[in-house]
Amino acid sequence: MTARPKILLTRRWTEEVERYLAERYDVTLNEHDVPMDAAALTQAMHDFDAICPTVSDHLGAPIVGTPGARVKVIGNFGVGFNHIDIEAARKAGITVTNTPDVLTDTTADLAILLMLMATRRAGEGERELRAGRWIGWRPTHLLGQDVSGKTLGLVGFGRIAQATARRAHHGFGMRIAYHSRRRADVGIEGQCGSTYYESLDALVADSDVLSLHCPGGAETHHLINRARLGLMKPTAVLVNTARGPVVDEAALAEALATQQIAAAGLDVYEREPIVHPALLGLENVVLLPHMGSGTLETRTAMGMRVARNIDLFFAGQPVHDKVV
Ligand code: DGY
Repeated sequence: MTARPKILLTRRWTEEVERYLAERYDVTLNEHDVPMDAAALTQAMHDFDAICPTVSDHLGAPIVGTPGARVKVIGNFGVGFNHIDIEAARKAGITVTNTPDVLTDTTADLAILLMLMATRRAGEGERELRAGRWIGWRPTHLLGQDVSGKTLGLVGFGRIAQATARRAHHGFGMRIAYHSRRRADVGIEGQCGSTYYESLDALVADSDVLSLHCPGGAETHHLINRARLGLMKPTAVLVNTARGPVVDEAALAEALATQQIAAAGLDVYEREPIVHPALLGLENVVLLPHMGSGTLETRTAMGMRVARNIDLFFAGQPVHDKVV
């Protein structure tokens, strides 16, 4: 009997998926769910046939390109893969897969949640109440802003942006505008009457809510910088469920503190799990701990999507979600 492939899950996954994989492979679980350091990940490149990492594992070129590595496939748990050096994987002949589709709706829900929390000052209200500072109803208490009839500007127009657009347009009557590298098909634009902006700066200036949905990486690093924050309306709200480094956090903290923009809702950060200290003290920012895809159903579906790719890979068949 041939030995079962050795697979490493770098973090705890939902029970159903861990069980599924353990029945089929020689699986090593990260029982204590602590992040693995570079030395442990490098050793894992020698010890396993497959590594299944997440966004909290930094698989740079020195790790992915480990000489004499045993790993043949990296089954990433997540749709974003900017934490993996794809070029190094290509050079080393390692297959990399991700988990598109299954987290689209859940992540779009969270973008809407952040938009509403920020525009309606929900975090501020909850903090006030819990601190015993609420003195009762009054007409001018914690006045927020409506979203109905306002413009939602989307940076990037992939699956999650489109799902966010559907919710905002059909649920809240928002106008949809977007900027992306490629203009979407007329059919896709037509679903929400979306307006394409060739100029990102013009989109930034016109949006009442600006929601980020572009990939991470060198091309989008600090795409929302001091200059672009300066183009936003003073009433505007920034939402980031994409990747932290897309926003210059220090510049954002300054824009929020000086009320150059009204508010922000963030789920991702430049140096997770560290959050820029200047953001932590501000009332007009909602700060969530990278939980965009965080439902039991979705995290299980993500795990099963990785499992399907691993099954196909070891069955010698083409994987479905091949990044490289
Ligand atoms: C994703 O799928 O990219 C989420 O941000 C978790 O990595």
